[in-house]
Amino acid sequence: MADISIRKVRKSYGKDEVVHGVDLDIRNGEFVVILGPSGCGKSTLLRMIAGLEDISGGEIAIADQVVNALEPRERGCAMVFQNYALYPHMTVAENIGYALRVAGMPKAERRKKVEEVAASVGLMEFLDRRPGQLSGGQRQRVAMARAIIREPKVFLFDEPLSNLDAKLRVQMRHEIRRIHNRIGATSVFVTHDQHEGMTLADRIVIMNRGTIEQVGTPSEIYHNPASTYVAGFVGSPAMNFLPAQISASRQGVTLGGGQTIAVDAPAVAGRDGKLVQIGLRPEEIAIAAPGAPGLVTRFEFVEELGAARLYHLTYEDLTLSVLSTEYRHYTPGEDVILQIPASAVHLFDADTGRKLAQTAKGKAAEVTLA
Ligand SMILES: Nc1ncnc2c1ncn2[C@@H]1O[C@H](COP(=O)(O)OP(=O)(O)O)[C@@H](O)[C@H]1O
Ligand SMILES: [Mg+2]
Repeated sequence: MADISIRKVRKSYGKDEVVHGVDLDIRNGEFVVILGPSGCGKSTLLRMIAGLEDISGGEIAIADQVVNALEPRERGCAMVFQNYALYPHMTVAENIGYALRVAGMPKAERRKKVEEVAASVGLMEFLDRRPGQLSGGQRQRVAMARAIIREPKVFLFDEPLSNLDAKLRVQMRHEIRRIHNRIGATSVFVTHDQHEGMTLADRIVIMNRGTIEQVGTPSEIYHNPASTYVAGFVGSPAMNFLPAQISASRQGVTLGGGQTIAVDAPAVAGRDGKLVQIGLRPEEIAIAAPGAPGLVTRFEFVEELGAARLYHLTYEDLTLSVLSTEYRHYTPGEDVILQIPASAVHLFDADTGRKLAQTAKGKAAEVTLA
């Protein structure tokens, strides 16, 4: 069993605190992705789990054992990096079997294990090559094999796919998930790539400037983002944000130009006049037939995405996009009516960016666009 428990963990470099008291529980066998933009503290957190960085405050336990004072090799973790960290003068087989050789495993037994693991990641034909004679994807497989062969309790990945081209990145992503499903070790995977995070994770941890912003399944994060930060980071094409004001009398939110969008969220009850940001996912709103009721916007341009089209529109001085599989032709500047189901409207506090909590006695209301 290798649960990981992170309690009020802090990290400072000199006077700069970069991780501000993080609490997180990772269950045995779980695949957890730590997602956030560059510089938010993902690698630092991962390296503290691995023991590659000291912890400035708090406690980390792996499999119920506090590891704060343990050396990296005593923690039962194997780490896979972006730059592979392979030994250039060793063959693939020697790279994969290195940890076993250091541990003193006899040669024949070692060879057998190396071949077993190499076969599982598709490296059998390359065992005698050196890293310099391999493609980026093959090198990444060697790095994976080298981690797998140690049979770690915990896999730690720090952006392992960032150096690969787009297609290979997707293939390796699938490979990593297959390996995880087969081996079942606890995995913590750091990335700034929301696609990687959404597709790999059992649970996602969204980080923002050294703190955790939200933890949830990919579906929870996507459908119920806790803040504009999370909502804007996850989802592609990105969520549209519009400033608005809650209007109890109009049962919705009012936008800048005075148009109103109906909102069924009980969240707006008792909040008449409150300034909010509304979030609209491009795939949850639709273009309506001319003359239909809805938000009147202007067409700007359209992007062909293959499976769908992304229509770019403007409302007052704001831009927004709509994902649609329907083909319609518009000329720039033409009026386009947007249909916005009440269920598609995410409401965030204009000041804090946090999602508006549902109120107990809440009933339907509208917001008016400003
Ligand atoms: N060795 C270090 N010395 C000083 N500052 C560091 C060091 N490593 C990281 N930092 C700082 O800590 C913050 C978090 O870095 P990092 O964990 O690498 O972010 P991420 O992996 O999310 O891109 C950044 O502001 C970075 O500049
Ligand atoms: Mg990093």
